[in-house]
Amino acid sequence: MKPVVINSPDQTKERKRLDKDNHFIDYVENNKFKDLGKDKKYYLYTYGCQENESDSEKIRGLMESMSFSKCDNLDETDVILMNTCAIRKNAEDKVFGELGRLKQLKRKKPELIVGLGGCMAQEESVVNKILTKYQNVDFVFGTHNLHNLPNLIARVMENKERVVDVLSYEGSVVENVPLVRESNIKAWIPIMYGCDEFCTYCIVPYTRGKERSRLPENIIKEATDLANQGYKEITLLGQNVNAYGKDFTDRTYDFADLLNDLAKINIPRIRFTTNNPKDFDDRQIEAVKNAKNIMNAIHLPVQSGSNKVLKKMNRKYSKESYIELVDKLYKAIPDVSITTDIIVAFPYEDDNDFNETLDLVKRCKFEGAFTFIFSKREGTPAAKYVDENITEEIAYQRLYKLNEVVNEGYKNGMMRFLNKTVKVLIEGRSKNQKNVLMGYTENNKLVNVLGDEKYIGQIVDVKITDAKTWSLDGEIVNE
Ligand code: SAH
Ligand code: SF4
Ligand code: F3S
Repeated sequence: MKPVVINSPDQTKERKRLDKDNHFIDYVENNKFKDLGKDKKYYLYTYGCQENESDSEKIRGLMESMSFSKCDNLDETDVILMNTCAIRKNAEDKVFGELGRLKQLKRKKPELIVGLGGCMAQEESVVNKILTKYQNVDFVFGTHNLHNLPNLIARVMENKERVVDVLSYEGSVVENVPLVRESNIKAWIPIMYGCDEFCTYCIVPYTRGKERSRLPENIIKEATDLANQGYKEITLLGQNVNAYGKDFTDRTYDFADLLNDLAKINIPRIRFTTNNPKDFDDRQIEAVKNAKNIMNAIHLPVQSGSNKVLKKMNRKYSKESYIELVDKLYKAIPDVSITTDIIVAFPYEDDNDFNETLDLVKRCKFEGAFTFIFSKREGTPAAKYVDENITEEIAYQRLYKLNEVVNEGYKNGMMRFLNKTVKVLIEGRSKNQKNVLMGYTENNKLVNVLGDEKYIGQIVDVKITDAKTWSLDGEIVNE
């Protein structure tokens, strides 16, 4: 079937920031689609970062506003939606692998509808590949017009068309999109969309568009409503939360202002991710320091400990300024847990550069890190960098070596809580042991405790009795 291409992604346009103005609009539900999904089910795959998890809550909200009900069994579903991630090649391989498997299901059940959205949908090469090689995908929807999902699904169902609708310019900031949250204890709150950094390895500025901040009044209202509903924790989301508000043209209001305002709300725990060292300023540190309900856990991706590599990555800060920021954080908030992201085997990274990264990890006393081997992303500047000295073997050696050092940091970060009593937000039952509860400390450490279900959703005092590399064991005190 020939696809109907309403809009298709174009990386050249995505690189430019075409839409210079911020537009704020309210989602308007189309009553026409209210019963479209009556007696029908949808199955949702979510890959990628918290931003995608948050988008998936909107996808659920949109689907359920059309009366589709969620199902967990592929054999029973009428619609399959994939919310995908493009950050590294292996993230995309997973999706293509799954799409391959779904071909069989579609053969068995030709009326099944498959839609692919998220960051992969924003890539020209992916959409071309899907149109030619994955006939089982019925429609492709982008990240900027997620709220348009009902129209697209209606079109596919009613006209039996194959449709592509992916915008190459950033859409509006859309408020009041219906959502179904995954948890009634913790909630995501996106505070901004997009990214203007253009780190040379990264696909996100292309797939998510220009930086656009939500208005503070809408964020504060959402947080207040969540607190009133009994939520215990909110996590503010953005690719560079420290740049929040820089795009406002009608007001001066930044991330520190937002933190100060949110701290006044009666919600026990506020987190935020992710931070860009270049925009993390002193007022933001003060805000975290002064607010009891802003948690002492900061994720501060460094990517590399070598100035040469940082420059090639276009990270816009130096090793020295990064260390200075980390020192300031430890000084202002002595109890803080700092974690990071690191890429190894970036083109032109030699042994010296890599050793500088190892030194930095030790120096900064990270209590955790996500570590990655550089992955070429088509259309990004670094995809054209050629360094024949870095073989796959060297890349893996560096990753293993780095992980050894990182794991020591994890362990040290856990050990410092041994025999201490800490506050744990109990989230649910442990996956592996049925009679064990799990939750996180203020410093974001996973804790397992024996206890009754009645504690789920509560913040309890826990005495830590054992510290492992990835988790703590403890006992609830003052029962
Ligand atoms: N906006 C966040 C990061 C989002 S992506 C920030 O700037 O910190 C999460 C992590 O994936 C990045 O921090 C980086 O470590 C990693 N990453 C991004 N692109 C990558 C690539 N092409 N290859 C390997 N790792 C990558
Ligand atoms: Fe990617 Fe850099 Fe933006 Fe993070 S700050 S999303 S790594 S371009
Ligand atoms: Fe992946 Fe897109 Fe997030 S590329 S990491 S899902 S912003």
